[in-house]
This record gives sequence, structure tokens and C-alpha cells, in this order.
Amino acid sequence: MNIKFRSSQFVALLLFASLPATTPTLRLAADRAGVLIGAAARPSLLQEAAYAATLSREFNMVEAEDAMKWWTIRPESGKFNFSQGDELVRFAQVHRMLVRGHCLVWDHNNPDWLAHGNFTSAQLSQILHEHITTVVKHYAGQVFAWDVVNEGFDEHGKVRDSIWYNQPGIGLAHVDKDTAYIEQAFRWAHEADPQALLFYNEGEGEGLGIKSDAIYAMLEDFKGRGVPIDGVGLQMHISSFETNLQSVATNMSRISALGLQIHITELDVPVPVKATGVWGGESAHPEDLDRQAQIYRRIVRMCLDNPSCTAIQTWGFTDKYSWIGSHSHGSQGWALPFDRDYRPKAAYNAIAEELARGRNSKR
Ligand code: XIL
Repeated sequence: MNIKFRSSQFVALLLFASLPATTPTLRLAADRAGVLIGAAARPSLLQEAAYAATLSREFNMVEAEDAMKWWTIRPESGKFNFSQGDELVRFAQVHRMLVRGHCLVWDHNNPDWLAHGNFTSAQLSQILHEHITTVVKHYAGQVFAWDVVNEGFDEHGKVRDSIWYNQPGIGLAHVDKDTAYIEQAFRWAHEADPQALLFYNEGEGEGLGIKSDAIYAMLEDFKGRGVPIDGVGLQMHISSFETNLQSVATNMSRISALGLQIHITELDVPVPVKATGVWGGESAHPEDLDRQAQIYRRIVRMCLDNPSCTAIQTWGFTDKYSWIGSHSHGSQGWALPFDRDYRPKAAYNAIAEELARGRNSKR
């Protein structure tokens, strides 16, 4: 097994991995391949039998799609509400799944009282420190890996403007490194739970380029100075069938050469849908679904071929509940391995086949 865990509590999962197979599932294939296969999920949907059954049968890892974000945990200033996150953790424990936490520091999905609170830097520093400490301690031993900072860079390779960085920021925007606030967040998270794996998570720049170069420079600096970071999350919301996946593999190689893990964290591959009034109706083109499957196949293979790539996660798992519909204003859909009736698609078969081939298979 190549999965690097810190805590012995996950031994149970590994033992489960060695049980004989009954039905082939993504989960069983991933357990055998020594990789985590996960999905983002919404606790409110666990009441739906097919949703819960598919999630627990097919995945050995789950991430809160929104349930551990500021807007859920901190609806009001001064109050923490862990009920949704706790529900997901309970589900995961019952089904022996690992839980990824998402996310501690982001400029989106924040409650209004925070986003428009006109706080001073000193106040924001105190608020962020309290948040990271309280949330990470609450989930210590339950969340094995955190996205500490999400989407910290812009498309020009600059640290993204945000309340945490420079608007007004937590007071570290004008020290010698632009990434000082990111470093501080990792240090606070590590203090709160030294066992948790800490990830920097980023999208729209998974391949080589000005953005990934800037992130790489930060990672190299952090590793060189002993900043507690364990890995990089590559979101992988695939925006085009023409995405240069070879370039992503090359970026993964240089990240792993720094001694960091890689998790593919938010994989989905939207396809164009024709306007039928309802996004994702019957209107996806079959050829597009085949091309989609090939992209899923190549991404799973890319991860399995890099020993540092320890998790593959899709952003949701059924087309019935994917963020892509609203995100694309109904122009795209069908992004996930299961259709709206929880039937496996060609993408599912592609993922399953690659997982079954395992790591370093010669094809
Ligand atoms: C999305 C969720 O899927 C939606 O439910 C929510 O309304 C907005 O956020 N990058 C991220 C995720 O890191 O947190 C985002 O999730 C998708 C883009």
C-alpha cells in the first residue's frame, strides 16, 4: 500500500481492504490498488437511500461539499454549528470511510457577517486563528486531511486578493513573502491537530503554467523551511475535452519530487447539454460521454502511475446532484460517473477498469 497515513485509527480501513471481494466496486478496486477513491457529498442527501447506498458502496473516502465551509459552520458570528459536518463524519465512520475536510481558508462561501464585516487586520487574524483552531480540534482524529487554504492564487500567478491576504488581510500582506498568510494558516492548523495531513488546494492551473509555477515556488519554499504541509490538492474541474493532461502529469511529478502527496480533489468532466428546459435532461451527446470516459480513464491512470498520488475524488458522484448545472447556468451537465438514476456511466467503467489494473500497469 502506498497510502501514507499518520494515525493508527486508519488501520481498520486497511484491514477491510484485504477482505475478499464480493461485487466489484470502485471501492474494492481502489482498496486493492492502494489508493483512496472519494466523493464530495451533502449530508442532507444521506436520507435518500440510493444516494447513501451508492456513496458507501463505491467510495472509501468522503469530503464535505459544503458542510465544513465557513458559511455552514459559522452562520452567525461567535457561533459554531458542526451538525452537518458531524453527520457526514458519522456516516463515514459507520461505513469505514476516511473524511477529507474542506476548507479552512477561502475567499468564497463565507458568511456575510465575515465577508462584509469591515474587520481590522488584527480582528481578522484573531477570527481566523480561532476558526482554524476550533474546527480542526473539533474534527481531530475524524478528519484525516484538510484543505487548509483553497484557491490562494490568481490566474497571473499572484497571491489572490482576499480578506485573508490583503483586503485588509490578517496583517501579513506586507512581510517579505506574499504567501506569509498561507504559511500562518498551515502553522495554526498543524498546532490544532499535528496528526492531520495538511493540503494546499487549487483549481484552474493543474498543468504547467504561470499559476502552477507560482504555487510550486511556494511549495518549494515551504518544504525548505519546514512549514507543515503534506500535500497538494488538484481540483481537476475539467473545463475542456482538449485539456492538456500530459502537462498535469508533469506538474504532478515535480510536486511529488518535493516529497508532497497529491490528492485529486474535485474531479468532474462536464459535457455540453442542449437546452431542454432542465439542465442535464436527455440531451448529452453519446460521443461526448465516451470522450468524457476517456478523460476519466487518463486521469485515474495518471494518479495511479505516480506513487505520491494517494487519492482520487470526484465532486459529487451522481449527475442528479452536481454543482455543474448551476455553475454553468444549465449549459453543461452529466459531469459525474453516475447518471441521475444512479446508473454507472461509461466514465464509471473507465475508472473501474483503471483501478483494477492498479499502479504502474504496463498497457
Ligand atoms: C461548490 C459546491 O459544489 C456548491 O455546492 C457551492 O454552492 C459552491 O461551492 N471549488 C471548490 C469547491 O473548492 O468548494 C466548490 O464547491 C467548487 C469549486
